[in-house]
Amino acid sequence: MKAIVRETYGPPDVLYLEEVALPTVGDGDVLVRVQAASANAGDWHLLRGTPFLFRLVAGLRTPKFKIIGNDIAGCVEAVGRNVTKFRSGDEVFGELSRCGFGAYAEFAAAPEKALALKPANLSFEEAAAIPTAGCTALQGLRRGRIERGQRVLINGASGGVGTFAVQIAKTFGTEVTAVCSTRNVDAVRSIGADHVLDYTKDDFAAIGQRYDVILAANGDRSIWDYKRALTADGTYVMTGGSNRQLTDALLFGPLLSIGRQKLGNVLVKPSQADLLFLKELCEAGKIRPTIDRRFPLREVPAAVRYLEDGHARGKIVITI
Ligand SMILES: NC(=O)c1ccc[n+]([C@@H]2O[C@H](COP(=O)([O-])OP(=O)(O)OC[C@H]3O[C@@H](n4cnc5c(N)ncnc54)[C@H](OP(=O)(O)O)[C@@H]3O)[C@@H](O)[C@H]2O)c1
Repeated sequence: MKAIVRETYGPPDVLYLEEVALPTVGDGDVLVRVQAASANAGDWHLLRGTPFLFRLVAGLRTPKFKIIGNDIAGCVEAVGRNVTKFRSGDEVFGELSRCGFGAYAEFAAAPEKALALKPANLSFEEAAAIPTAGCTALQGLRRGRIERGQRVLINGASGGVGTFAVQIAKTFGTEVTAVCSTRNVDAVRSIGADHVLDYTKDDFAAIGQRYDVILAANGDRSIWDYKRALTADGTYVMTGGSNRQLTDALLFGPLLSIGRQKLGNVLVKPSQADLLFLKELCEAGKIRPTIDRRFPLREVPAAVRYLEDGHARGKIVITI
């Protein structure tokens, strides 16, 4: 099969297209003929081996994972003898970060718990956009103790995670304020945001509005700014953004959470139940992935470079 591989850590130039053997399919595994994959910020961390902490799981000097990529959608080609939920021909989508990655290839093998049946009303490209970004947004909002009637602020609302977060927050019956730059204001409003703040002109921390839930999908603000914009028992959840946002959440989050406000971060956990939850939202017409650009398999290096620039509008999809 054709796959995008790499031998060393480095910039996207270390990636190249090669003919490789099909992945091994264990008794509990499903072999998927990949139709589409999607790129995530995690790709370039894994590719460059930065921050260095990544290398504790990904290989200290030489990367363990030759084929990167988390998110896939495709057709089941074959199943191991212990697989009960899927059969050949099923259309599935899933997340491979806990089973060795490998999305940027014509075939991928995954345990059945990493997969779910694809939303029937979505294309493979749309389905491949969901797993990592959709689950991050969902798990972040749940950690934020989201409830009907609350005011929710999403910073970084125009990216892969943010576009899901805005739509998912609306499905909980909340009033959503999205923060993005001027060029994305209309797009973010079109996916359901009730209010939009343009971060080049407006400062959410200075306008005097308080939010029950704040999700930082991206951005570079101090935790003190987020705290100031929270209600007395509000919750701030950081899922992404600058190193400062991450360090603030890790260092100060526990201390600032001693009272009624809760501040911290979330690391996404692959979850078949969450994939099924998102599939139902898609099929009910309540959310739809926002796709910015599509790149063919051989152009994965360009896709990762584009994502690394930090201005994607929604998700970047790889067509296989
Ligand atoms: N916690 C986890 O488990 C987890 C999982 C997935 C991703 N992540 C992290 O989450 C972050 C976002 O992921 P993503 O896929 O959404 O990334 P992305 O798609 O690359 O985000 C790009 C978007 O962020 C916006 N943005 C950039 N700087 C901003 C700023 N200062 N304020 C507000 N918005 C800004 C950009 O809008 P403009 O062009 O208009 O600036 C662009 O639309 C990344 O840091 C990623 O590593 C974490």
